[in-house]
Amino acid sequence: MSTESGARQPRITTRELIAMKQRGERIVCLTAYDYLFGRLVDEAADIVLVGDSLGQVVLGYDSTIPVTLEDMIHHGRAVRRGVRHALLVVDMPFLTFQVSPEDTVRNAGRLFQATGAEAVKLEGCDDETARHVRALVRAGIPVMGHIGLTPQSVHALGGHRVQGRGDVAAARLREEAARLEAAGAFAVVLELVPAALAGEISRALEIPTIGIGAGPEADGQVLVLYDMLGLNEGFRPRFLRRFGELAPSARAAITDYAAAVRSGAYPAAEHSFE
Ligand code: KIV
Repeated sequence: MSTESGARQPRITTRELIAMKQRGERIVCLTAYDYLFGRLVDEAADIVLVGDSLGQVVLGYDSTIPVTLEDMIHHGRAVRRGVRHALLVVDMPFLTFQVSPEDTVRNAGRLFQATGAEAVKLEGCDDETARHVRALVRAGIPVMGHIGLTPQSVHALGGHRVQGRGDVAAARLREEAARLEAAGAFAVVLELVPAALAGEISRALEIPTIGIGAGPEADGQVLVLYDMLGLNEGFRPRFLRRFGELAPSARAAITDYAAAVRSGAYPAAEHSFE
């Protein structure tokens, strides 16, 4: 969030995000995975998310499932060094929160301490997960929920499909959102959810919803940074708007560099020392 003079406000808090919802201000969230992009995203976003999408866009896996707590700590610390104003949230990877509330608190505590993030995010919210969310909140660790398409359960869900279609699935999603709020989460990501349902859930909750593929009525939006910058060339889901086309310009720069080295045009005298 910026002031009229363009100067950034002090660090965004979980309370401030709820106040933004009350004021009808839309919340801007983007992912980041390293220091330099963390710094750039921090100039404009309210929330910087170190998502476990780093499994695909940084580490080259097919899904988020192989991502470890160590991976999240490593990247979370790097982003932390660049983020001064936005609220920093780090994802809890697969099986670091599903086993028991004690295990969840221990793993989230490590993530929280080692990265210096202000909050963690975890996927799903059945009754058992709600117990884990409550245990985290009790331990002083703010939690962002994530429902709808939860990528760590992609195989159980049968692929990357819109969730909450039909009365039963919509009712389940409404319940999960309410359960997260009751358990003390400060915000909830809605991923791949019909726009009308996302709007309904957003109006029903006091905490903000952050949509991805959930239409315009969520209280905020999140995208994976490399997708919206056009670096992830093959990835073109319907919900994604590319705000840049960085892959072609990166490729052109790399090709120019290779040609200049091969031809001897680089380095020239001005790049050399006496
Ligand atoms: O891992 C991630 O980047 C996410 C966002 C897409 C919400 O969970």
